[in-house]
Amino acid sequence: MIDKLKNIINNSSNIVFFGGAGVSTESDIPDFRSSKGLYNEKNNLFSSPEEILSHTFFFNHTEEFYKFYREKMIYSKAKPNDAHLSLSKLEKIGRLKAIITQNIDGLHQEAGNNNVLELHGSVHRNYCLQCKTFYPLSYIEESSSLVPHCSKCDGVIKPDVVLYEESLDDTTLYESINSISKADTLIVGGTSLVVYPAAGLIRYFKGKNLILINKASTSYDHMASLIINDSIGKTLKSALSLMDI
Ligand SMILES: NC(=O)c1ccc[n+]([C@@H]2O[C@H](COP(=O)([O-])OP(=O)(O)OC[C@H]3O[C@@H](n4cnc5c(N)ncnc54)[C@H](O)[C@@H]3O)[C@@H](O)[C@H]2O)c1
Ligand SMILES: [Zn+2]
Repeated sequence: MIDKLKNIINNSSNIVFFGGAGVSTESDIPDFRSSKGLYNEKNNLFSSPEEILSHTFFFNHTEEFYKFYREKMIYSKAKPNDAHLSLSKLEKIGRLKAIITQNIDGLHQEAGNNNVLELHGSVHRNYCLQCKTFYPLSYIEESSSLVPHCSKCDGVIKPDVVLYEESLDDTTLYESINSISKADTLIVGGTSLVVYPAAGLIRYFKGKNLILINKASTSYDHMASLIINDSIGKTLKSALSLMDI
């Protein structure tokens, strides 16, 4: 399997990676849907995580939203793992052209990747709903009130992440479709492929090799030319070590 992955990577010149929360579990950021994921956690929340992470909930229960968001969505001490680092190496040697991620943690950029398309935004960008001033994550973390407010106009600050009921950014979506449709190899990893419209982007792939690296099976397995049900960090690192990079 790893040998086949290595050969495909070796014979590709325009690889695109499409990933999700499973890419960051090895950095100790829980995903949503595996057994240790956020959705299976026992908690005494009065609403489901999907409901709390929705546009309506943000505006109707801003304090409750921030309580959950601060506790469950921000991991500022997390470091890139072998998956992020391997993908960064693939970009440096010119084979990987883009990363399309559903993650909001910024770890691909921290690993050194330059072309990262963040479909669901980032915890590192936050903006004032009134005057649109942007704030870094540190401003949110250091804010003395649960709901952070703008230092210029006192407006409420919202994370630049796509909540349920919100649409994806047009430019990011366009660039993602463009990258996927030009790729010769698409590596999909660490995603349950159930969140739309993100998961539907895979349908734009017209290249030769669709590779799925995921611990659990997905509804796109029948389209794949190679499926590896294993850790994404371990898998990518092993393939790259066979290539001496
Ligand atoms: N790190 C983050 O930024 C983060 C974390 C949690 C959720 N989210 C958000 O939640 C949504 C969830 O959808 P999703 O599909 O990305 O995640 P998901 O939780 O629905 O699915 C994660 C998938 O990754 C697999 N997986 C987990 N660890 C793995 C590993 N080490 N190696 C290989 N596979 C592994 C699981 O089997 C599962 O199928 C996304 O929209 C994303 O924005 C982001
Ligand atoms: Zn403001």
